[in-house]
Amino acid sequence: MRSVVVALVGLPGGGKSTVGRQLAKRLGARFIDSDVVLEERLGMPIRSYFEQHGEDAFRDHEEAVIDELTSLDLGPVVLATGGGAVLRPANRQRLKQRTTVVYLRSSPEELFRRLRHDTQRPLLQVADPLAKLRELHQVRHPLYEQTAHYSVDTGRPSVATLVNMIMMQLEVAGVVPPVSDAGS
Ligand code: S3P
Repeated sequence: MRSVVVALVGLPGGGKSTVGRQLAKRLGARFIDSDVVLEERLGMPIRSYFEQHGEDAFRDHEEAVIDELTSLDLGPVVLATGGGAVLRPANRQRLKQRTTVVYLRSSPEELFRRLRHDTQRPLLQVADPLAKLRELHQVRHPLYEQTAHYSVDTGRPSVATLVNMIMMQLEVAGVVPPVSDAGS
């Protein structure tokens, strides 16, 4: 069977890493967080890199890492991408063509509740993070929709429910075998 590569996209704080880790367990896949790979490459936290080199330089590295992670044959993988990965057309194209993309769709208000104490995300270290999240949502929501094959709303469901919802979508789409067939 072809390797299952599922990529998660969505705004920061929507649960890409948490959901991704659980989804990977369910799929028997490896979990890779592109931000973690980037921090290893950059040799420093993303926030420090932004401060020292700016967003454009960060996006260049992010594009290279996404290209690499989506073109290597790493076996079954769930890939959590950074919230801004969809900004570059090349990333959108590569993710869509090479992986099954799931959009974790969240409202700015929900994300603000989760992220109001965050100190690590450079774009949110501003006087009015809620306004910033609304702006990011406005710009990026259409790009996430355009890139994704499937979407799930993160508002109410627990992580376990979200994982079940994604599994069902992947099963219906034939990306993974239905539960009853698993292991047969
Ligand atoms: C970013 C989101 C971050 C990280 C970087 C830029 C963004 O990832 O890639 O700080 O532009 O929204 P998360 O979505 O995992 O927070």
